[in-house]
Parts: sequence; C-alpha cells; structure tokens
Amino acid sequence: MCGIVGFTGVAGAVGILMEGLGNLEYRGYDSAGVSVFSEGKIRTVKARGRLQNLADRLKESPLEGSCGIGHTRWATHGEPSDINAHPHGTEKLSLVHNGIIENYVELREMLKEKGYSFVSQTDTEVAAKVLDFCYEGDPAAAIRRASGMMEGAFAFGILFADRPGEIYAVRRGSPLIAALSPEGNFITSDVTAVLRHTRRYFTLEPEEIVRLTADSAVVWGADGKEIQKEILTADWNVEQAQKGGFPHFMLKEIFEQPQALDSTIHPRVHTGLPSFASDGIPDGFFRDIDRVQVIACGTAMHAGMVGRMVIEKLARLPVDVDIASEFRYRDPILTPRHLVVVVSQSGETADTLAALRLAKDRGCPVLAIVNVAGSTIAREADHVLYTFAGPEIAVASTKAYSVQLGVLYLMGIRIALEKGQVSEEEARALISGLLDTVEKTKKCLEMAEPIRKIAETYRETGSLFFIGRGFDYPLCCEGSLKLKEISYIHCEAYAAGELKHGTISLITPGVPVVALATQGALLPKTLSNVKEVRARGASVLLICRESAHPEEDLFAHRISLPEADDLFMPLLSVIPLQLLSYYAAVCRGCDVDKPRNLAKSVTVE
Ligand code: AGP
Repeated sequence: MCGIVGFTGVAGAVGILMEGLGNLEYRGYDSAGVSVFSEGKIRTVKARGRLQNLADRLKESPLEGSCGIGHTRWATHGEPSDINAHPHGTEKLSLVHNGIIENYVELREMLKEKGYSFVSQTDTEVAAKVLDFCYEGDPAAAIRRASGMMEGAFAFGILFADRPGEIYAVRRGSPLIAALSPEGNFITSDVTAVLRHTRRYFTLEPEEIVRLTADSAVVWGADGKEIQKEILTADWNVEQAQKGGFPHFMLKEIFEQPQALDSTIHPRVHTGLPSFASDGIPDGFFRDIDRVQVIACGTAMHAGMVGRMVIEKLARLPVDVDIASEFRYRDPILTPRHLVVVVSQSGETADTLAALRLAKDRGCPVLAIVNVAGSTIAREADHVLYTFAGPEIAVASTKAYSVQLGVLYLMGIRIALEKGQVSEEEARALISGLLDTVEKTKKCLEMAEPIRKIAETYRETGSLFFIGRGFDYPLCCEGSLKLKEISYIHCEAYAAGELKHGTISLITPGVPVVALATQGALLPKTLSNVKEVRARGASVLLICRESAHPEEDLFAHRISLPEADDLFMPLLSVIPLQLLSYYAAVCRGCDVDKPRNLAKSVTVE
C-alpha cells in the first residue's frame, strides 16, 4: 500500500522526505513524489518508477525548504504514471493519500458541476479537489467537512499554500502517525520511515486532525475540540516496524485479509448490488457470454477453481479452469463468445501472460483479475478488475487469494443477474451474505493460537493428505500448496470421494489427514470418508462448522468455523489452512517469507 512521510523542521525537507520514502520502499510502489514549501510557494516534483527517478528529477529541479510531504504510490485507481503519482493539489493545497475513496466517481461528477476539471485517473485528485472546494481559510474545518463527504479509507498528509511551515493530517481506516524530534516533527504511514530521527510518536484515531509545525503539535478530535495525545516510544527495529510488529510478512498479510476484502468488495457494491461500472465494465457486459474460461497458475488457479463453482452454481453458465502452462499448449477450443478470465496476483506470470495472448489471438474478450496496477497482464487484458490487497510481500500468496475470491463472488452474482438466474432481491441477499462472511473472517483469525498448537504436531511429518468435497476440494488444493511451499512437508489434496479409488492404500496408522467438511449439504458424505481413513489409523484434523456434531472419535483435532452459506465458506476455511501452513513452517525453522526455490512472481516459463 502507499507510503506517506511529512516533515516540518529546521533542516532541509527534501533529504529527510527522500530518506523516509526509502524506508517505506518495502511496502511496494510504482511512483513517488514530494511537495515542499519553497520560495514561498508549494512546489511539487513527482516521477513514475523507482525513487531514483524522483531523485534524478529533484537534481534537475531542486526544492529548497524545511516543510514538505512525500508519497510512494501503490496504484489502485489509475495506472502508474507521472500524472497519477502523488501529491495531487490545487493552487490552495497539496495532498498525499493512502487508501481508497469509494465514492470518488460521484464526488468527481459533483465537482465537475462546480467547475473543477481533472487531469488524472485517481481518487486522490478527487479528494484534493473536494478539500479545495471545502477550504475557506480554516484548514481543520475544511478537513472535517471534506472527510465527511468521503466514503472509504484514507490517510491524508496536507499542505495549505497560505499556511507555510504547517503540515496537516487526518486518517480513517489507513495507518498514519505523528512523530516528534528536536529537529522537527513528522507524519508517516509507519514509524519505520523516521526511526533514525526519533522513536517518540503518537497515533491518530479515526477523524482526528493534527497540525504540525517545526516545534508544535496540535490535535483536534472528531468533534473539533483540542485533545492531548499520549506520546509513545517505538521500541521496534526497522525490520520489525516494516512487518507491523508481526514476525513475518506472511502472518501480517494473513491478518490483513478482512481489510483487503473490504477494500476490494465495497467499491463494487452499489444499492446492494454488484457492479463493475467503476472498473469500466458496463452492466450487461456478461449477458451474451456463452462460456467462461479461467486461466491461472498456483494459488490463483485454486481461486479460479472456486470461481468456477460459484459462477456455475449461481449463473448456470459453463466454466472451465485451466493451468496456464497446460492451456497454452493444448490448442484449446475458443470462440469470441468465450470470456477468458486470467487471474494473477503479480500480473507478470509468464505462463498466464502467454495464455492471455493466445486467447486474444483467438478473438476472445479477456478480463484480468490482478493485484498489481499497471502490470503486463493488466495492460494487455481488454478489461481489468483490480484487487485491492495492497502489496503482497511474502512469496506464499494469502490475502491475494482471498481478494481474488472476493472478485469472483461479485462476478458470479453479477453474471447470474444478467443471465436472469437471480432476481435483484436474491442478488442483494447474496451480497449481504458475502459481506457478513467477510466480517466473520476476523473470528477465524482469532483461532491462530490453537491452530499453532495443532501445526506443531506436524513438526516431524513426512507426508500428509487433505481431503474434501464440493467447495472443500479446491480449498484442499490451496491448503496443500501452502503447506508444501513453505514447510516443505509433502502432501496431497484429494477429492474425498476419490480416495477409495487407489490412494487410500497410502493411509496407514498415524498418517495425518486434514479433512475439510464445511459444506453442510455434503457433511454426511465427507464424514463417511473420514471414517474410512480413521478405520486405517489416520490421525485426522477435522475442519468443519461449529454447528456440526461429528462423533468425537473421528478426529484428533477439530477446528470449528463460524456459520455461513456453503457458497461463502471458502472465505473462512482458507484462513485455518493458511495459519496451519505458516505455523508448521515456523516450527520447522523454514524461511517463511522466502521459501527455497521459489520466487514471488514466476516470469519465466
Ligand atoms: C502461491 O502461494 C505461489 N507463490 C504461486 O503458486 C503463485 O500463486 C503463482 O506463481 C501465480 O502467481 P500470480 O498470482 O502472481 O500469477
């Protein structure tokens, strides 16, 4: 996600801002910029790409001054470019932003009617011009009024042209803190950026507004009254700070899933119905599609397997799912009425990109579900549905998988609407169920400690099986990949009903079996498969709903999930699978974030 740094003090601001942005590079970004009070005006320099590009620009047009704001952008709305880079501003102000303004389209239309024009594709430029529209000389009042007009998550750093030396900040949903030092005061997305200068900081609660000068800090509460903040001391080192206090990026990203799902789903729900209009995909787009072909690799392909079941179940539209490296060599049967959906976190996976190009050669419309804005797959697809998980640093994909599911659920409900398979009322009920389930993912995260204890029983395990039926089967595939790729334990995912056709010969006393039994409709069948492996001595971890009442002797361990519709259980069941693999890898001393032999993005065939 984006990084924000602001400084007002006695030293030159640009050097301190660039150093701070450098400390935030780990968050992932695709462009950067700074605004500084220089020679009595706000001057802004920004550049696409690495920070070095910005540094080069600053060499060409140096900015002298001791108060400024800086930003590294992780693109959400609008591709990476100089124009879309932050800061954004007007004659009155300059602003940097981390988050997503969900109602930016409506606000932009309102502002256009007031005479504003826009040069970028970003929600941030809209936010800056909303603030401009509200500003009548009182910064805090303007910020309060503008914030009240915006829906979604934001952290803003702001300079007002008629307030030299002052930095203002406000947040809702995105992180932002203020830090104090003898040489000046800071705002930043996380304390990593300024640890070399100070460890003294205070946090901002949602809607609180702060004004910093070189030697003062004033905070107003949501009600406009001045408040005192407790000064805290950061006892983290830089590496810990980058992980937000988590021991590994993977665990941090597992815990970011509820927020990532909210950021991805909420902007695509209007009057309770799914819509991709803000993504440039008009309502009615899916109506004439005869078939969907999903293509992806690894975890993204497992998301596609769930997506197939969702779309076929709701829209009664045939869906195929293929591993990209196979699809591209099997001379597939495709027509222009096939919608090809490529799923990719990085948007750079060579096999998936090659499959996309093949589909386009065959005249198929290609829709990409991608997490990295401006990536090659995003640029070459005909349509893009971005996921808003923020940068995924750990090699093992977790939050990207969940938000891919989020988009596929929205797509399944949207297609079902357009195909007349569900009424608007039924679609609203489905959306409500989806959002309720997203909320329940937080309860699943609370099970981390008991799951850690179960995972430690796998410390010496040589081989393990995942079994499940219906939606549980693709989840077993994902759980198996997670466990293999980071703990190096060999394991296999098997359709529970298929085990008896051969593989059950490998089930001997003590062999661990993870049985996924979340599908209410299939529970008796899956439990009969659990009995089969128990009869051969398997040690079973049963993952099922809290409402299930299986015989106690069927399992050695049980993980009970909150209740949700069978359709949405994948959003819940994937979390214990992720945590299981994480803790198994930790107790086996593996390099969790950078597993051996693996890369975050496989850009070779
Ligand atoms: C997931 O944990 C793996 N790291 C890997 O399977 C990954 O999902 C696959 O390489 C696809 O990557 P993409 O989503 O960036 O295309």
